[in-house]
Amino acid sequence: MTTGAEPKADLAEKELQRRLQVARDAHAYQAYLRVRRHVIAQLALGHNRRSSGHVPSDYWSGELSRFDYMLDASPLVIAQLRHHTHNLTGLLPQHYRVSLDTKRQQFAEKLEALRDLDQADLWLPEAPLLGGFGFEIDGELVNIDTLKFYEVLVALHSGAVLAEFRDSTERRLVWEIGAGWGGFAYQLKTLCPNVTYVITDFPELFLFSATYLLAAFPEARVRFYGEVPAGETFDNWQEFDFVFLPDTFHAESKPEQVDLMLNMVSFQEMTTQQVHAYVRHAYELECPYLYSLNRDRSHHNRELSNVRSIIGEYYWPHEVKMLPVSYPKMLDAGADLPKSGYKHVVGWRRVRL
Ligand SMILES: C[S@@+](CC[C@H](N)C(=O)[O-])C[C@H]1O[C@@H](n2cnc3c(N)ncnc32)[C@H](O)[C@@H]1O
Repeated sequence: MTTGAEPKADLAEKELQRRLQVARDAHAYQAYLRVRRHVIAQLALGHNRRSSGHVPSDYWSGELSRFDYMLDASPLVIAQLRHHTHNLTGLLPQHYRVSLDTKRQQFAEKLEALRDLDQADLWLPEAPLLGGFGFEIDGELVNIDTLKFYEVLVALHSGAVLAEFRDSTERRLVWEIGAGWGGFAYQLKTLCPNVTYVITDFPELFLFSATYLLAAFPEARVRFYGEVPAGETFDNWQEFDFVFLPDTFHAESKPEQVDLMLNMVSFQEMTTQQVHAYVRHAYELECPYLYSLNRDRSHHNRELSNVRSIIGEYYWPHEVKMLPVSYPKMLDAGADLPKSGYKHVVGWRRVRL
């Protein structure tokens, strides 16, 4: 028996299939499929996390299990990838509704305050790419992530680090530990194209960051750990725009040159042993600068001593003062308590320990 509803349902099904096909053919989804092949291969390399001291902190063990669905993401999920990165930095599009005008005004004020500190024209808004969202301010998208990245760029410039990456005619290597969805990598690579940007993270996270970066930079030359024998990962590193390295293989990876190591909102969630290992590795590779935007320790993290103290063992820490409030807060929230806020720390490598 046919009903009047069936042809409509058929049409809707056809329309869905058409949308899915468009999304499947899109560069971003093809990039995701490429990334996923490498992520699965990296997961299969199977360093025993427990015996090699790479057990994620309690906090991250819980978080990782929430990304399982990203191993089988629909093309429609990839087309809106930024709507799925709330697992990483907590932002959702509904926080930026047009109706929230008072909040929009607060964001505009904070952006203005950061612009006053910026002497090098470093502002980059959220890209509309893959469902990018934010308050529209002067025709540009602004959200907490973009304000955070802007703050970091201004701090790196004030800390006398960034200029040499921006103006360099020589290739530089920047290495970020825990890059989340890749938003800062996107910004730094846009401002400093002559950089090879290495990301160390859990392989599952590359489903977000590598997909985003490959979508943002379709011409980028990319290397995934495992594509070539391990010892050759950094051969001809100058020819690559991005290198994606699983955390379990970080310690044994030794590029001949590292110019800057970065960590944002991530050391604070690791164990003391993990932060030590990352900072010591940077020191041993003679990386001159280590930058951190972290709390000394996240409130819930009982496995960590103090981020700044650990950095201080290998790097001479210089705190760069920015706004009186930490990055997630607006200016009217009142100044941070001295011990609880996020600190911008530019570390200079110690000559000897
Ligand atoms: C809260 S997110 C921050 C992401 C990004 N830095 C930002 O500020 O937008 C924390 C990041 O640290 C990574 N992470 C956590 N523990 C890690 C570990 N032991 N080694 C490497 N990355 C880790 C997570 O996978 C995630 O990418």
